[in-house]
Amino acid sequence: MIPPKQVQEILDAVRIEDVVGEFVNLRRRGVNLIGLCPFHGERTPSFNVNPARNIFKCFGCGKGGDAVTFLREHENLTYPEALRWLAKRYNIEIQEVERTPEQVAEQQLADSLYIVNDFALRHFQEQLFDTDEGQSVALAYFKQRGLREETIRAFGLGYAPDQRDLLVRRAKAAGHNLDLLKKTGLCSQDGARDFFRGRVMFAIHNLSGKVAAFAGRTMSSDKTIPKYINSPETEIYVKNKILYGAYQAKKAIRQYDECLLTEGYMDVISLHQAGIENVVASSGTSLTEGQLQLIKRNTNNLKILYDGDPAGVKAALRGLDLALEQDLNVKICLLPDGHDPDSYVQQFGGEAFQTFVAGNAKDFILFKTQLLIGETKGDPVKKAGWVKDIVASIAKIPDPIKRSVYLKECSALLEVDEKTLHNETNKLITTTIKKREEKAARQPGAASDSPGPFPDYDWPTELPPAPADADGAPEAPAAREKPMSRGDEFQERDIIRLLVQFGNQLLEKEGITVAEYVLADIEESLGNFDNPLYGNIASECHALLVEGKTFDQNHFLHHEQKDFSDLAIDLLTSPFEMSPNWEDMWHYPLQNQQAPELNFDLDMRQALDRFKLRKIQKMCDVNLARIKTASDDGDVDAMLRYMKIQQKLNETRNEVAKRAGTVVLVK
Ligand code: CTP
Ligand code: MN
Repeated sequence: MIPPKQVQEILDAVRIEDVVGEFVNLRRRGVNLIGLCPFHGERTPSFNVNPARNIFKCFGCGKGGDAVTFLREHENLTYPEALRWLAKRYNIEIQEVERTPEQVAEQQLADSLYIVNDFALRHFQEQLFDTDEGQSVALAYFKQRGLREETIRAFGLGYAPDQRDLLVRRAKAAGHNLDLLKKTGLCSQDGARDFFRGRVMFAIHNLSGKVAAFAGRTMSSDKTIPKYINSPETEIYVKNKILYGAYQAKKAIRQYDECLLTEGYMDVISLHQAGIENVVASSGTSLTEGQLQLIKRNTNNLKILYDGDPAGVKAALRGLDLALEQDLNVKICLLPDGHDPDSYVQQFGGEAFQTFVAGNAKDFILFKTQLLIGETKGDPVKKAGWVKDIVASIAKIPDPIKRSVYLKECSALLEVDEKTLHNETNKLITTTIKKREEKAARQPGAASDSPGPFPDYDWPTELPPAPADADGAPEAPAAREKPMSRGDEFQERDIIRLLVQFGNQLLEKEGITVAEYVLADIEESLGNFDNPLYGNIASECHALLVEGKTFDQNHFLHHEQKDFSDLAIDLLTSPFEMSPNWEDMWHYPLQNQQAPELNFDLDMRQALDRFKLRKIQKMCDVNLARIKTASDDGDVDAMLRYMKIQQKLNETRNEVAKRAGTVVLVK
């Protein structure tokens, strides 16, 4: 364990640009750095690193956080691993708290088991590649199933010949401890026989690529022989915490921000070979919470590929509420009759597979609902049962916005009143909360597992343009129209005033100038000024900073462009005037008109808040229009996406408004 004091020491030493810079090509843009986002594929950089705040934020995919978050996400490290990485990077020597003798013993046992498994893996591989029997029987089998040699090696496939105790003898000869071999389940408890005999072998890796267990498949089609046999659970193989293929898939899962889930070993291997690498297998059992958490660490999007019969699929759906609880977006894709992902991709190829999945994956809740509609035609009792089932699923979704979108959709599909569904859902949620509270009350002092507040993200970038048809725009109350019609001029002028008046003043806390802070903060809005003059000045200041130049009041007062210098004179000589409508519009307290020069720090923060508030309000309007369009089109995916954005915008707006002491008029 790393002592808390040292944790702080490490965090204090960290510079976000150093850390991200190890993995991403960054270039300067103003006081920020930008690069291509390592978390999603993109060609134009929207990945921002903000040294002043020591955070990163991608405006494309939304990922953001500090250096520790970056390492956890990018390198898939745990929290302590990330801290160790940073300590090493900054030459901080960690004095770990002593581990207990039990912990030490546990670690030693795990290490020894991995060593034995590693030996076994090499043995199985040698039998596969380097013996006549292995080549003619097992390698031929894999090749006949369409696997290439590089795939066979990448997944640690092997062969266990049909011999009584070949592995036991080899292990002994190599000096391995027989007790450890027994513990891994690779031989019988009396040590006389190998466990895997006459089978092709699949290594099961843990997330960091160590071999945790094996599976062996018979090559015979005799139905009385079990098709697969697996290593027993051990200290290093806890079945419900391992997903087959996760080690080989994790990078692609993060890259594509989606995890495909199949049932079988061969499905994972064949898809991977066909270039579809973001795929794992549950190994024929239903998903456990531990496995879902593993997925959740890498993506929020889960796509499940089913090859079973409808009855089997229906049963499987029940298990998926667990995924909804984790706030995963779950999609279901049924494969054509008689195919599993392996057979499909082997017959039709990776591209055809991708096309098929893209065309056939359905949102889980809607999938379930449609299944119900088909099943209960004309049977109200059955229908009532199913509706409850669906409502139960929806109630598991932690995100209220998502829930309401689903309730709306399902009410339309099921022809059940939306309010009724709402009430049912709320009842279930209340019960769940009560139960949870009761449980918590029984365990005093138990740590709360509610997620913390949102991290201190940068502002959302300007949204893409609204849909072209003006009809889609929400109706603004007439009363709002008038003050809005002058655009954001007052807020923009205020920003320019800050730049001209205090641009080169140093902010004590941040250690950068007002201009640097302001421009970094509104960087994304620079192209969106309503008043072109103000926009030009802001952009010029920005360009100067990028070139590493500074500027003071004289720069503006003596500017070669007359409109620049006129404005500067105006701003510097007349007392700053707020919009006459200002207080009416935003109820914004005009606190610091007295002597702003004595209080430029607060002045700056407030001006920025007012500026942002206006820009956010605009984004809200655009986004509301998009929600309406999506809703009219019945596009649930888009609706969900935009409602998420809306939620973020509302939160951001409220946060800013709260800070600014403003009452926000919610439409
Ligand atoms: N499984 C198992 N034990 C069995 C049968 C199945 O552990 N006796 C698990 C394996 O992880 C297997 C998965 O369930 O990969 C799915 O089983 P199945 O569809 O029968 O096998 P496939 O993966 O399709 O294997 P293959 O293509 O080799 O027949
Ligand atoms: Mn199969």
